[in-house]
Amino acid sequence: MAVEPRWLPPGIDTGKANIARVYDYWLGGSNNFRADQDAARAMIAIEPNIRGIARANRAFLGRAVRFLATEAGIRQFIDIGSGIPTGRNVHEVAQEAAPGSRVVYADVDRVAVAHSRLILEDNADTAVIQADLREPDDVLTATETQLLIDFSQPVGLLLVSVLHFLDDHDDPWRVMAHLRDALAPGSYLVLSHATGEAKPDVATAVNTVYMNKVAARGDHRSRDEILRFFDGFTLLDPGLVYLTQWRPDEPVDTGPDAANFWLLAGVGRLNDRPA
Ligand SMILES: C[S@@+](CC[C@H](N)C(=O)[O-])C[C@H]1O[C@@H](n2cnc3c(N)ncnc32)[C@H](O)[C@@H]1O
Repeated sequence: MAVEPRWLPPGIDTGKANIARVYDYWLGGSNNFRADQDAARAMIAIEPNIRGIARANRAFLGRAVRFLATEAGIRQFIDIGSGIPTGRNVHEVAQEAAPGSRVVYADVDRVAVAHSRLILEDNADTAVIQADLREPDDVLTATETQLLIDFSQPVGLLLVSVLHFLDDHDDPWRVMAHLRDALAPGSYLVLSHATGEAKPDVATAVNTVYMNKVAARGDHRSRDEILRFFDGFTLLDPGLVYLTQWRPDEPVDTGPDAANFWLLAGVGRLNDRPA
């Protein structure tokens, strides 16, 4: 991309790759620059299915939000690590199923936030904030969140392909517990997370590119470690499964070997608090 677009905030160094723009490249978006493309291609060289994984992740997010809006009666969503808007964003899926659904998007990345603001400016039931998941109160107490989200009612909390960018020193389980404790019983957690269980060498090599070319930390985790994010929730059928296995829209998106899509995905319903 030769000309910097109008949504790019001042002071952004487009010579450095960034998580949100690398993902945008894999999804076929145009909001990425040479450095992002180089990093994205380096990871494609390691995992040729990575674009398929990105698309499958996005499709899982769409199916889960549609389920929450149509079958679970959820009317308010908090999407943390929401990324650069792309096809079938959360507010589009939710508001199509249930007009008036409210969505707060949060991302640490200024570029993702700026681009989201641009597309959301005419949608009064949505807001976007710049916040770091590692400081969950920054999301929960933001003015936009307080205006749009009624914490006495169930919420759909979306942590889709973001917790693996927190390493163990960030204690992502503490972060998750803090968010969970702010939610009303009957809320839902939608989560996907990279696991090394299917292809450990590939997952480790991808992490190394993230570290070296994107300056992003993070970790893939075991099934048991990912299951711990659902403490206090009841996992819905079919449980914690590979992306394409979570309630696929038959028969199109179930690949021949689901472990080729090595993010685990699940949806849980928050239990009643013990009396
Ligand atoms: C792979 S994208 C996923 C986007 C979207 N959730 C989806 O699944 O399509 C990961 C996003 O998480 C964001 N992110 C990474 N670390 C974060 C943090 N500590 N706090 C908030 N967002 C973060 C990145 O900026 C990026 O936009």
